[in-house]
Amino acid sequence: MPANYKILQEKDYAESFGPTHAFALDILVGLSDKPKRIPSKYLYDDNGSKLFSEITFVPEYYLTDCEIDILSNQADKIIDTVKDEPFNLIELGAGFGRKTKILLEKFSEANLDFQYVPIDISESAMIGLRDSMNESFPDIEVNGLVSDYFVGMKWFNERFTERNLVTFLGSSIGNFTYAGARFFLRNVWTCLNRDDLFLIGFDLKKDIELLLSAYNDPKGITSRFNLNVLDRINKELGGQFDKSRFRHFGTYDVFSGAMESYLVSLESQEVPINQIGRSFHFDEWEPIHTEYSYKYLLSDIRELASDTGFSEVTNLFDSKKYFCDAIWRVNKS
Ligand code: TRP
Repeated sequence: MPANYKILQEKDYAESFGPTHAFALDILVGLSDKPKRIPSKYLYDDNGSKLFSEITFVPEYYLTDCEIDILSNQADKIIDTVKDEPFNLIELGAGFGRKTKILLEKFSEANLDFQYVPIDISESAMIGLRDSMNESFPDIEVNGLVSDYFVGMKWFNERFTERNLVTFLGSSIGNFTYAGARFFLRNVWTCLNRDDLFLIGFDLKKDIELLLSAYNDPKGITSRFNLNVLDRINKELGGQFDKSRFRHFGTYDVFSGAMESYLVSLESQEVPINQIGRSFHFDEWEPIHTEYSYKYLLSDIRELASDTGFSEVTNLFDSKKYFCDAIWRVNKS
């Protein structure tokens, strides 16, 4: 009998296609496309996340201040929707938790009975968040899940019976196309129970000048944030990008309703990327698309809710009406 026959399981060779290979493949596909593109999720390595957090303090970047205004001044309306029974506060993508802290503070002042369940794919982000929440709110139970959002929500929902309030703050939904947003929301719906609640942030359509300066801030932090993805390719994939040969450009498409961010090549150049095993050619003024940030009308938000199985509970606005945190309820039989 042959002695050496063995069946390999997926886990035995998973390492041969890890996160670096996925990154390399996405860059190969994106830079081979026309127009060239880099998926926006790669903007957020450690350095990118720090730069993004700096953007949230830039005066022209109104989004964070507006949402802080909503959470600080209208938390009672959120509290009204959950105060009658124990619940789970599930947060998708807490970042550094600045906005969540406001919500947790208001919830504990109101003596609500809940556990806080952040879900994030990054273990180091999760550990940082847990430690900072434990320090600020020693009495709140925090159970983080290091996981894909949907896998995490489904796993959690199969084990706990309380009502869920899921939050998706910021304007992350805006990073999806309208079709992508529908797919994402149907996926959220699938993971939840009837009458669960969903609190979701939308940046509203507004004066185009305000949009343009929010995404092209005068101190150039947005530019550093966008260009950082080239450093990341250099570091992780052995790329040879020279950042000074590209510039950040942010523009608004009135038809699609999206702020769009690009890196534009300032000259004709070849850029080798070692781990991909080839070079990429850039023409002078050739763009790489890096991000969409779709802006919404209230009518778009309403349509999106009803198309994806939610009913509107209430819409909360900041004092300038630049931003909307919508509260939806899950419709299910
Ligand atoms: N996605 C966020 C937003 O739409 C982050 C962001 C702000 C961003 N400025 C950017 C992403 C510039 C890419 C480029 O607000």
